[in-house]
Amino acid sequence: MNFHIMTLFPEMIEHSLSTSILGRAMMKGLISFEAINIRDYSNDDKHHKVDDYTYGGGAGMLMQAQPIYDCYNAIIEKINQTRNEVVAENGENGLGGLPGAKRPRVVYVTPQGAVFNQQMAADFAKEEDLIFLCGHYEGVDERVLEEVVTDYVSIGDYVLTGGELPAMVMIDAISRLVPGVLNNDESAMTESFNNNLLEYPQYSRPEEWMGKKVPAILLSGDHKKVDEWRLEQSIIRTKERRPDLYEKWLAENPPKPEKKKRKRKKANPESISTADDTDNND
Ligand code: ADE
Repeated sequence: MNFHIMTLFPEMIEHSLSTSILGRAMMKGLISFEAINIRDYSNDDKHHKVDDYTYGGGAGMLMQAQPIYDCYNAIIEKINQTRNEVVAENGENGLGGLPGAKRPRVVYVTPQGAVFNQQMAADFAKEEDLIFLCGHYEGVDERVLEEVVTDYVSIGDYVLTGGELPAMVMIDAISRLVPGVLNNDESAMTESFNNNLLEYPQYSRPEEWMGKKVPAILLSGDHKKVDEWRLEQSIIRTKERRPDLYEKWLAENPPKPEKKKRKRKKANPESISTADDTDNND
């Protein structure tokens, strides 16, 4: 998967994304990042200006349409060139790089967008190329947004000074869902937000720390029981910390109607004991 980031601060992106897990994934050729400086596409040869005053008045400067549009076209040209080379090399057809091919999604990171979540990350992770546009100053001329942007995405209801941090947050969340990026595929399967549940509590050695014991069930070796306990804890944790998510989970997992002659009680969020009040912590 290839990320192309249109920004006024390419060094900010390049430093951050080339470390740790993403750096390793990049070395393995699973993902690539390219931060493109919008300023390089300014028509103003002297000052490389990319912003100007807002028509109708108002505080601050606006990023102009032309440098962004030219930057975008340069990225598209490069993507198509790369794809055509692959097509020529492999003798394949239909890779999507030929004229009239599918346009890559272009994400404009903005507090005016839909709020990013795990489902969106999974959806974006299916793309082969993804373009991000990082805004600055007071925003971007609407006309270029209309022309190139496919997705308006925010990372939350607060305003940051620019789009680079939000873009990096999204790129991190998307990259780790690209197959092969995480060592242990399972960790992407069971973690928080899958099925609208938060992840269950986890423990490592020692078995007792500061008088707190690891719940006995986790030492039992009974995998079925451990799975049941973890699901219960996920439900409790979600209900306590994220009632909004809990409601979503409940809507998708309505309680089964009680059978009259039941031998064993099924997990019921109302009656489950929390990790803190299990008798393993006494
Ligand atoms: N740019 C500034 N604030 C932002 C936010 N909350 N999300 C995405 N982009 C932004």
